[in-house]
Amino acid sequence: MNGIFSSSLGKKLIMSITGLFLMIFLLVHLTVNLMLLFGDGKLFNFAANFMATNQLIEVVEPVLAIGFIVHIIYASIITLLNQRTRPMGYIQTSSNGVTSWASKNMYILGGAIFIFLVIHLINFFWKIKFGEVATLSYDNGLTQMADTYSLVSGLFITYWWYDLIYIAGALLLGFHLSHGFWSAFQTLGWNNKIWIKRLEIIAYIYAIIIAIGFTIIPLYFLILK
Ligand code: HEM
Repeated sequence: MNGIFSSSLGKKLIMSITGLFLMIFLLVHLTVNLMLLFGDGKLFNFAANFMATNQLIEVVEPVLAIGFIVHIIYASIITLLNQRTRPMGYIQTSSNGVTSWASKNMYILGGAIFIFLVIHLINFFWKIKFGEVATLSYDNGLTQMADTYSLVSGLFITYWWYDLIYIAGALLLGFHLSHGFWSAFQTLGWNNKIWIKRLEIIAYIYAIIIAIGFTIIPLYFLILK
């Protein structure tokens, strides 16, 4: 069992599995966040409140944190080991033999996303968890919840530079995922010629959805609110 975690393939497997798990989280997170764009905030507040109080999510949250930490630690180990053995580092070529800019810069992209994530968690997660957010009641006072909509919209409307930081974060994430998605499947063994091509296309579609989806939100508040 120890061998799995220390072998070269084992490390890549762990990167792939944690990466795929984080990709599923991103789709769910984006779906909830896109509700910011509809209505007066009630829809988003209900969805955010459901996510914050749901018991299943309470279990998933620590798993998510561990997923991020393991992904980052193994990325660091693989990059360090590769730099020692090969000056070019860890690269998987695409179906046409070309190495993309993203594939050559996965660790730098990941590092920048990590910095974005720390800023992001301080902005929202920390404030919600430690009760710095006003509560609001709906349905004639029957339902009380944190006013997450005002927290998010307030940040994006008041500070234009946060809009830019979030747009940069979304674009970096898009580049990181454009390589990470199909590379993860390739590591997991889906590496025949037909599937590599298909996965590349799916990876680009997924990366574009994530990048555009997360970009639209700060842009909406910057331009329209
Ligand atoms: C427009 C962009 C985004 C908005 C408006 C947004 C909003 C939020 C909010 C309100 C929370 C706190 C949820 C709670 O604790 O109840 C949160 C948490 C979190 N966000 Fe984001 N987010 C955005 C982009 C991202 C991106 C790009 C990533 C990944 C790199 C990300 C990763 C996380 C993580 C890991 C958490 C903590 C886990 C959780 O509470 O679900 N977010 N986000």
